[in-house]
Amino acid sequence: MDTGFVALQLGNIDLTVSYVVHMLFGALMSGAVLFFAYGVNPVAHAGNMGPDTLATATSKLTTVTRASAVLVFLTGGHQAGVLYTFESLTGSGRGYLVLAMLVLWLAMVAFVEMGASKLREGTDRDKVRTPAREARPFLRLASVAAVLVLVDAGLLAAGVAF
Ligand code: HEM
Repeated sequence: MDTGFVALQLGNIDLTVSYVVHMLFGALMSGAVLFFAYGVNPVAHAGNMGPDTLATATSKLTTVTRASAVLVFLTGGHQAGVLYTFESLTGSGRGYLVLAMLVLWLAMVAFVEMGASKLREGTDRDKVRTPAREARPFLRLASVAAVLVLVDAGLLAAGVAF
């Protein structure tokens, strides 16, 4: 039965390593965004942390998302280059899922950076509640992109081909 999967064998160790790094940092990036939007920013919005703590948490978030974004893009690009042609990327169901992954990754990176810059602007002025309020819509949009890219990955992993 042709499942459309490429058997990850030692023969194509680069693809195996790429998939592992891709999934690891894709999950780390999405998880960090979701936890910050759910578990950190609301605490700041309620005024239950100081500007230094919020500034430190924000810089840790962007360190994780920036490093992960680069690794996910490089490994994703490699996988696309090995597993797809231009025609299959732009003309098949799995290709559309991969292109959607790229768009959602870009949206997540952009919204996280916009949210983080609001937080930095505020904590630089020793503010907490106002920057947390201003960053909230961006962090929520980044969270929507994170959930959608994980749903997309789940469809790919399930072997969906339409
Ligand atoms: C945070 C963002 C991302 C996450 C969480 C993510 C996650 C995943 C996961 C879990 C898989 C494995 C699915 C499977 O088992 O087949 C996958 C596959 C893939 N991803 Fe991503 N990815 C992300 C961004 C990207 C980007 C930016 C690109 C392109 C540059 C990309 C290209 C691919 C390709 C080509 C595959 C293989 C698809 C296939 O097996 O046919 N991904 N991704």
